[in-house]
Amino acid sequence: DENLLKKIVAHAKEYGFVFPSSEIYDGLGAAYDYGQNGVELKNNIKSYWWKAMVQMNENIVGLDASIFMHPTTWKASGHVDAFNDPMIDNKDSKKRYRADVLIEEHIAKIEAKIDKEVTKAAKRFGDDFDKEQFVSTNPRVVKYNEQIDEINAKLKAGMESGELNQLKDLIEELGIADPISGSKNWTDVRQFNLMFATELGSLAEGANKIYLRPETAQGIFVNFLNVQKTGRMKIPFGIAQIGKAFRNEIIARQFIFRMREFEQMEMQFFVKPGEEMGWYENWKEKRIQWHKSLGLGEDYYRFHDHLNLAHYANAACDIEFNFPMGFKELEGIHSRTDFDLKAHEEHSGKKLQFFDPQENKSYVPYVIETSIGLDRMFLALLSAAYTEETLEDGSERVVLKIPAPLAPSKVAVLPLLKKDGLPEKAREIIDELKYDFTCQYDEKDAIGRRYRRQDAVGTPYCITVDHQTLEDNTVTLRDRDTAKQERIAIAELKARVEDLVSL
Ligand code: GAP
Repeated sequence: DENLLKKIVAHAKEYGFVFPSSEIYDGLGAAYDYGQNGVELKNNIKSYWWKAMVQMNENIVGLDASIFMHPTTWKASGHVDAFNDPMIDNKDSKKRYRADVLIEEHIAKIEAKIDKEVTKAAKRFGDDFDKEQFVSTNPRVVKYNEQIDEINAKLKAGMESGELNQLKDLIEELGIADPISGSKNWTDVRQFNLMFATELGSLAEGANKIYLRPETAQGIFVNFLNVQKTGRMKIPFGIAQIGKAFRNEIIARQFIFRMREFEQMEMQFFVKPGEEMGWYENWKEKRIQWHKSLGLGEDYYRFHDHLNLAHYANAACDIEFNFPMGFKELEGIHSRTDFDLKAHEEHSGKKLQFFDPQENKSYVPYVIETSIGLDRMFLALLSAAYTEETLEDGSERVVLKIPAPLAPSKVAVLPLLKKDGLPEKAREIIDELKYDFTCQYDEKDAIGRRYRRQDAVGTPYCITVDHQTLEDNTVTLRDRDTAKQERIAIAELKARVEDLVSL
């Protein structure tokens, strides 16, 4: 629902979650700034991930590597030669696209047709509906699936052959038109390297070309032995990192889904060669459980196994999320073999091996990687949380049903009136709670409007101080999702809120 995405973009801006970068200069493509609520949500996602990966796993440790790395890093990793996207321009609109994405979007349209047939049939057959059987026998659906397989095969062949104009041929054969102008007048397909380059220091032009890292993973690979030795880590073990990555994306749209500067949360898990497939399955399962445990709803997620493998992988899949634009990649899980460590050995001349005391020999470990985009996770949360609803009393509201542990503020403390000592009492409560929770104070406007404002930024609990509070030291505690209120003693607040918002 593209309309939902528009609403989320507007809401994110209005309530201090996400602003376009350098907005006073009309913004910069695919760069965004996180506002006062956005930064809290982002930090909470990071800590939720870090806890699950590092704190909860004895054999996973953290790292914070620099963004700039020796230029040979990117030669070794394959990014200089192979981190390209096939680009194609429309001659009439002068718009630039990724050729493979145009084709994938065409496939998505056919998939949508299949979904439609399935939904229709499910309604018709009711309880007797057997989806698998329907999909494998219904002539229309069978035909659609054959089309998809054929397109996928040609896409794969085009990507792998290096003859990129096979993609142009396919685009023309499928009759794909420029989504903006409707024109089918395409240029040839060319390779476009996604890395941003800049110059280090003040040497002569071109002498010291370095890159902004396009993934955080390489900082982990080059530190593999530093961490293994100083941490006395034994295989299997992992290194986790959160940090910025940069890609000169050809298409910049869909808000914070595809940015040129973004943040990744990556973990490389080093395993014994030959054991990688077991660990690959293991991490697939662990990561999908992490997502589902947030409680947004299991239907939001699905796996998508890769047919076109990246230059470093021998197995790969995405965890896809049902964004407002449909199912799209949220996290990648890759079996990267020993590709990276071996390449760094070759290019640096240094050994990057683990001495296995049990086997009494050294080897280059294999790597399973889990890599999730922080900004995409942010968008996933906003899309699932954004709700327009009518309350029992007939009032309308927009509420962000962000899981309480991740919400930007945990409580808002609201004096019913701006007099009679109620504000002072409210401040006292905040002073009690602010060491443990991010709190908001608000005394402006009628209480109903203040609840609406807290709903709109996803604050899970509102504490209201009224005249009764002055008599018996109780307050009302209002739940964001149900809008129900209960009376509770101030003395019990901290433990209660702790209980409600902890992971
Ligand atoms: N180290 C492996 C790697 O970087 P990737 O699939 O290219 O793999 C991993 O990226 C994750 O990073 C993606 O699943 C996505 O969530 C996020 N990501 C990639 N490109 C992005 C972009 N341009 N904007 C926002 N997030 C992005």
